Amino acid sequence: MIERTFVMLKPDAIQRGLIGAIISRLEARGFKPVAMKLMRIPRELAERHYAEHKGKSFFPGLIDYITSGPVLCMVWEGENIITVLRTMMGKTNPQDAAPGTIRGDFAQQTGRNLIHGSDSPESAKREIALFFNDYELQDYKKTIDPWLYE
Ligand code: RTP
Ligand code: MG
Repeated sequence: MIERTFVMLKPDAIQRGLIGAIISRLEARGFKPVAMKLMRIPRELAERHYAEHKGKSFFPGLIDYITSGPVLCMVWEGENIITVLRTMMGKTNPQDAAPGTIRGDFAQQTGRNLIHGSDSPESAKREIALFFNDYELQDYKKTIDPWLYE
């Protein structure tokens, strides 16, 4: 099933100059960009985005990290992309992330793990609505689509 997912390149990805390296993996996989926005997340929005972690010991540090600099917020579309992107990201702790994954190739610590991706269709819907308006989400066809999808 063709789905959409919310993806965020965290401040460490921007600072380390890894935007291109990470996005090129999604493009090469055949996924389609639907929205992109470089922004500094207000604290209140960061807390809403990570609401499921409120009360946990790492929550304050997580909010500090994610609001510490610009992030690249995106929506990408593709076949079963929610699950497939999580696989491409690798485990939350980069030390457990397999080589070949984004975290497994480029990161070392959980608190600097470069990328966020929605973990379920419900999360994707909620997070996309949190960061984007309808007019910022592009609906378009690509001529290459028949070479990706039979
Ligand atoms: P994300 O939400 O950022 O895509 O990451 P995830 O699903 O792989 O991991 P999640 O459990 O949702 O945790 C969200 C982010 O919180 C930080 N974290 N720190 N110190 C810790 O034990 C700990 N656990 C999580 C990480 O930055 C993680 O990506
Ligand atoms: Mg998560």
